[in-house]
Amino acid sequence: MERILLKNARLVNEGRITEGDLLIEGEFIARIGSGLADPGARVIDLEGHFLLPGLIDDQVHFREPGLTHKGDIASESRAAVAGGVTTFMEQPNTVPQTTTIRLLEEKFTRAGEVSHANYSFLFGGTNDNLEELKRLDPLSCSGVKLFLGSSTGNMLVDDEKVLEQIFRNTPLVISAHCEDEGTIRRNLEAYREKYGDDIPMECHPKIRSAEACYLSSSRAVALARQTGARLHVFHVSTGIETELFRNDLPLAEKQITAEACIHHLWFSEADYERKGSFIKWNPAIKTADDREKLWQAVADDRIDVLATDHAPHTLEEKRKPYTGAPSGGPLVQHVLPALMEKRRQGYISLERIVEKMCHNPAILFQIDRRGYLREGYYADLAVVAENQPWTVGRENILYKCGWSPFEGEVFESAVLYTFVNGHLAYEKGRVSDRRRARRLTFNR
Ligand code: DOR
Repeated sequence: MERILLKNARLVNEGRITEGDLLIEGEFIARIGSGLADPGARVIDLEGHFLLPGLIDDQVHFREPGLTHKGDIASESRAAVAGGVTTFMEQPNTVPQTTTIRLLEEKFTRAGEVSHANYSFLFGGTNDNLEELKRLDPLSCSGVKLFLGSSTGNMLVDDEKVLEQIFRNTPLVISAHCEDEGTIRRNLEAYREKYGDDIPMECHPKIRSAEACYLSSSRAVALARQTGARLHVFHVSTGIETELFRNDLPLAEKQITAEACIHHLWFSEADYERKGSFIKWNPAIKTADDREKLWQAVADDRIDVLATDHAPHTLEEKRKPYTGAPSGGPLVQHVLPALMEKRRQGYISLERIVEKMCHNPAILFQIDRRGYLREGYYADLAVVAENQPWTVGRENILYKCGWSPFEGEVFESAVLYTFVNGHLAYEKGRVSDRRRARRLTFNR
């Protein structure tokens, strides 16, 4: 069996950074220690760089099937491994939407053929697929996704009775996109009357407002409390919503959890002037004060997980006026270097980055043997070097759409190597053409 010995690492795991070595045997971490030797192994000297568990991104849109002009599982999973992301959970707003077990399984089959990173998918709940949802094997996928506010793909669940039935009838984590549709519609009409279709981009957070977010997420939280459902609120974007979440329980015991995304932690409304539709997301980027409050909630554990909501659209689509320009942007290749910048600025430690992007998604979704540096676990690993400045530019962007909201940004840290199930999937700018990605399994 192939063995790879990683020497002289700074291992970041379970709240600590320690110096040591790690031995990979086949797909797994065989040993972690210091002074490890193995004459039969290929040795890679990590020269003191950080060795992390591979990142687990619990919210990406890879656009396959049906929207593959924006991205596909092969292209976006290549970008993922180049960014140290070894596992992704993909969302159901593809074409067709992932709202039946058959369509869900077709996605798994496709990912098995082309993905460079480990994969799972979310099943989309709608106003009319409750019976199918009840038949879903809880071990087959990450969980259920509900759009409680419409976004790309029109998957809005707005039938209150159905919503309650979904909350009562699944043992799976319900991941929810929360924005109140009525509020958004009213706001949009008001701005359309004033500006027509060419609404200035900085009005986006006034249309997809903080009120719209709070109204929807507070309702979802109330419904989860009432029904006992396991709720995970995706991409929290406002300070006020962070007050809905608790930090007095360990993650594994929480019934209601929350995620924040890198774009809401990086940009603020001051950036619309410079970036325009490149930072148009649903939910919208809000104020600098919201961003600070999100960071506080990350720090005090009201926010459990960090993710990307990687959602590529083409440049042509993005160049349309406000009402035609789709929301979303590609992020999966850049989330780790961006978080490393936030570490330099004092917002988060590396141990906490690992907790929020490796350990916690594994705990939350009960993923089998991933998310930690532990003997016997899958060798999903990312090696990150500090003091290796590089500039995000079209020549090093791997997304099929070819652009990034971070273009021109200088990141001080770089991902050097990424291992997926013990396979060196990415090495210093090159993604391996060989693949060893696996379907996620769960301990439930
Ligand atoms: O901005 C967004 N874009 N938010 C979403 O929830 C969906 C995503 C997409 O699929 O484009």
